[in-house]
Amino acid sequence: MDSGPLLLSIFTLLFSGLWRPGLTATNYNCDDPLASLLSPMAFSSSSDLTGTHSPAQLNRRVGAGGWSPEDSNAQQWLQMDLGGRVEVTAVATQGRYGSSDWVTSYSLLFSDTGHNWKQYQQEDSIWTFAGNTNADGVMHHRLLHPVRARFVRFVPLEWNPSGKIGMRVEVYGCSYKSDVADFDGRSSLLYRFNQKLLSTLKDVISLKFKSIQGDGVLFHGEGQRGDYITLELQKGRLALHLNLDDSKTRFSSSQPSATLGSLLDDQHWHSVLIERVGKHVNFTVDKYTQHFRTKGEADALDIDYELSFGGIPVPGKPGTFLKKNFQGCMENLYYNGINIIDLAKRRKHQIYTVGNVTFSCSEPQIVPITFVNSSSSYLLLPGTPNIDGLSVGFQFRTWNKDGLLLSTELSEGSGALLLSLEAGTLRLLIQKTTRRAAEILTGSNLNDGLWHSVSINARRNRITLTLDNDAASPAQDTSQIQIYSGNSYYFGGCPDNLTAPQCLNPIEAFQGCMRLIFIDNQPKDLISVQQGSLGNFSDLHIDLCSIKDRCLPNYCEHGGSCSQSWTTFYCNCSDTGYIGPTCHHPLYERSCEVYRHQGNTAGFFHIDPDGSGPLGALQVYCNVTEDKIWTSVQHNNTELTRVQGASPEKPYSMALDYGGSLGQLEAVIDSSEHCEQEVAYYCRRSRLLNTPDGVPFTWWMGRSKERHPYWGGAPPGVQQCECGLDEICLDIRYFCNCDADKDEWTNDTGFLSFKDHLPVTQIVITDTNRSNSEAAWRIGPLRCYGDRHFWNAVSFNTEASYLHFPTFHAEFSADISFYFKTTALSGVFLENLGITDFIRLEISSPSEITFAIDVGNGPVELVVQSPSPLNDNQWHYVRAERNLKVTSLQVDGLPRMSRETSEEGHFRLQLNSQLFVGRGNLKVLFLLEALQNHPVTRPRETAFIWT
Ligand SMILES: *[C@@H]1O[C@H](CO)[C@@H](O)[C@H](O)[C@H]1NC(C)=O
Ligand SMILES: *[C@@H]1O[C@H](CO)[C@@H](O)[C@H](O)[C@H]1NC(C)=O
Ligand SMILES: *[C@@H]1O[C@H](CO)[C@@H](O)[C@H](O)[C@H]1NC(C)=O
Ligand SMILES: *[C@@H]1O[C@H](CO)[C@@H](O)[C@H](O)[C@H]1NC(C)=O
Ligand SMILES: *[C@@H]1O[C@H](CO)[C@@H](O)[C@H](O)[C@H]1NC(C)=O
Repeated sequence: MDSGPLLLSIFTLLFSGLWRPGLTATNYNCDDPLASLLSPMAFSSSSDLTGTHSPAQLNRRVGAGGWSPEDSNAQQWLQMDLGGRVEVTAVATQGRYGSSDWVTSYSLLFSDTGHNWKQYQQEDSIWTFAGNTNADGVMHHRLLHPVRARFVRFVPLEWNPSGKIGMRVEVYGCSYKSDVADFDGRSSLLYRFNQKLLSTLKDVISLKFKSIQGDGVLFHGEGQRGDYITLELQKGRLALHLNLDDSKTRFSSSQPSATLGSLLDDQHWHSVLIERVGKHVNFTVDKYTQHFRTKGEADALDIDYELSFGGIPVPGKPGTFLKKNFQGCMENLYYNGINIIDLAKRRKHQIYTVGNVTFSCSEPQIVPITFVNSSSSYLLLPGTPNIDGLSVGFQFRTWNKDGLLLSTELSEGSGALLLSLEAGTLRLLIQKTTRRAAEILTGSNLNDGLWHSVSINARRNRITLTLDNDAASPAQDTSQIQIYSGNSYYFGGCPDNLTAPQCLNPIEAFQGCMRLIFIDNQPKDLISVQQGSLGNFSDLHIDLCSIKDRCLPNYCEHGGSCSQSWTTFYCNCSDTGYIGPTCHHPLYERSCEVYRHQGNTAGFFHIDPDGSGPLGALQVYCNVTEDKIWTSVQHNNTELTRVQGASPEKPYSMALDYGGSLGQLEAVIDSSEHCEQEVAYYCRRSRLLNTPDGVPFTWWMGRSKERHPYWGGAPPGVQQCECGLDEICLDIRYFCNCDADKDEWTNDTGFLSFKDHLPVTQIVITDTNRSNSEAAWRIGPLRCYGDRHFWNAVSFNTEASYLHFPTFHAEFSADISFYFKTTALSGVFLENLGITDFIRLEISSPSEITFAIDVGNGPVELVVQSPSPLNDNQWHYVRAERNLKVTSLQVDGLPRMSRETSEEGHFRLQLNSQLFVGRGNLKVLFLLEALQNHPVTRPRETAFIWT
């Protein structure tokens, strides 16, 4: 029995219903003060001036009137336990009552367990909140992204310079209810359908998960006809496999349909939403969405019997699974409106449980640490000295190729041990005075951001280095070496004042995260390190791993590939046709006009019609004639082509391929003054347009999928050929030579030049099927001349004159270049304001050009000074640029001013006023690149206003 159609209608109903998972509305008030109800015991801190817990709720005056730590330094924090997971929507702070102690800026950390904290982020950056300016004022901040957590930690960053750290705080929000299920890596939940086959045209699947494992199957379903859907974690990314077609490709051997997210094995919550309608799929992980279309023709997903969550059980083999299972917690798991975890909790018959699934999250107590600074971070841990042998183990993750992971001075003069990452390879070196006693190199590409585990074991003269469960030994003979454990182990780097040989640091220090540190087979408690009772450290974040994937999203433009270190990203622009730190600058000129201006003669050139805009470069032929330069784009069908046997029932049709996208061709056409394409139709008893009033027998398609029934030499709207307009057709009763339907060969030839219809993309012929009928056609290349953007000048004659445009949209990269001449003492070339952000380019004095920009971290100002006045009524060139790596200003041939963009803080340029161009008596010749790339702000109307 096929129950497909019935089910489809049920799901259609569901979809038009009210529920929409993943977007559970926060329309209701979620604004209750949560801290004021807490007992003082719910508060804790790094240290307390009074030695006990001080109540630190807003407006409290009792006791010390709030919290102050023993010492005011960057290591301090105040945290509260909200009793259970809640939704936090806002926070507020106050100074300590009746004191001069207040915090002027702070950051927030959140956690479900009081460990493994997560930094609150906004705009992809660790967010700094503005604090107080006195002891009693309340500073309130709404969180742009509400956070669900049980613990909140306030971390003071700056405080009143003439006082101490002092805080009273409040957290606003509401309770948060959810269904969770914990999978131990050997378990799964099976959702069994009421019928054999479930066939769906639409699917919505949503869930949240957290895991410390980088690999594992979140869910899977498959049908005997070959359909499948699988979502799995692979190396900390989520891969979605989806096949709707009946092809027998097994998902295990196929490439994922989409891969999204990064570093998802961080034991923090991540959300997933999969929405499918037929072949169209939106796959969302956290805030990133990828849209894709499934391959093949089928629209329905046919799944047999069941969907499994947490693993893929092998049928008939209880307890065995096809792939690595998910290990971790899932929350609010909805499959097409069905709350799977709720069904499982209520032990409904549709759910079959394999292994041990529990309904609360088991939270592994793993304390990660971050080595923040590549020159000053280190962690010192004691070992037991003088043991015959040594054993150290830990896990690390980093993006840096190089870094010192561990160093120790071995006792009994047995040398020094250094473990480092060099060019992505792990290197263990045991050094005695200056001699290399033993060396082991293992692994490659270890700076891939994933966790790697390392352990060193030495006993007598045997040394092994184990990396991710693969053991390696030194190549050379180590029988003469005797190794005794050291008493201090330096992880990451060395303290400043310590000199060789106690801590050797031949390369830079490690920047990255570590966890699970074992020395002499004992786990080291990093919380005791934080509390000051074990070892020593500097520039560490303890209990959080602040690794960040700077290539997600990828800010390299035009398909440039992104790589990263701990602090920055790099773009590889090779083969993109663009250069620069973010592959923003076109390698090729915009038009043949520019190539000729540079002194080139005719030939094949790449042109990039939209400059740094999204369209890539296109190869064209630049043909120089005496007066004009023609841009010519050839297609794949240039020969005269004969056609026979075509009728309205069986039309002949041929598509033309110009070797570039339609967008590129349109950009070439739109930026040219004139374009044309020659079309020729040779005929013998084959009518063309069927004039004067018949249904056309032949037509062509242009840039849109519309039929155009007019021929070369005639404008659009008249169904005619050139001879018709000139009234010289073979038979003046018809408007095309061919329409006379003669037995002798004739032709209709002319130029199509209505730009909005060009280029010709297809020709259709339908009248060559009668006896003695024959036709042949030829369509010439697309030919254009004139660059409408090349000489584009405006002048501003009075103080009050300016042009304005819609807001400048250049969030991540902006480049502006133009020529100007002026006699004015000062004037603004261009200005656009936002609420706090702005961008401004001006001639600030006769010999100074200033480029100022603020993306939210305070203004950055670049000034180029010229030795001679710039208001000399001669043309000068200005180029200002800002991208995520650098801000720069170039004026004529003067030295370029540039400033590197800071890696932290805000980076999105957010403007909302109109863009003003030209204030003061300036004569400006603009080439506003970024403006031209934004369709709405295209400055067409700025054309020639000469005075
Ligand atoms: C995917 O998202 C886009 C934009 O939000 C939306 O227009 C489209 O309908 C969505 N497609 C599906 C299958 O949900
Ligand atoms: C199932 O897991 C819970 C929590 O991890 C544990 O307490 C319990 O003993 C386990 N039960 C079985 C049967 O393994
Ligand atoms: C190094 O400096 C730290 C503080 O900066 C100090 O506690 C330590 O004693 C110094 N060590 C040496 C060997 O001077
Ligand atoms: C260059 O232009 C001239 C005049 O328009 C034309 O005759 C010639 O065929 C063109 N050459 C090429 C290679 O397109
Ligand atoms: C030119 O390209 C189009 C589109 O790819 C194709 O349909 C057509 O057959 C090609 N023409 C020739 C002559 O190869």
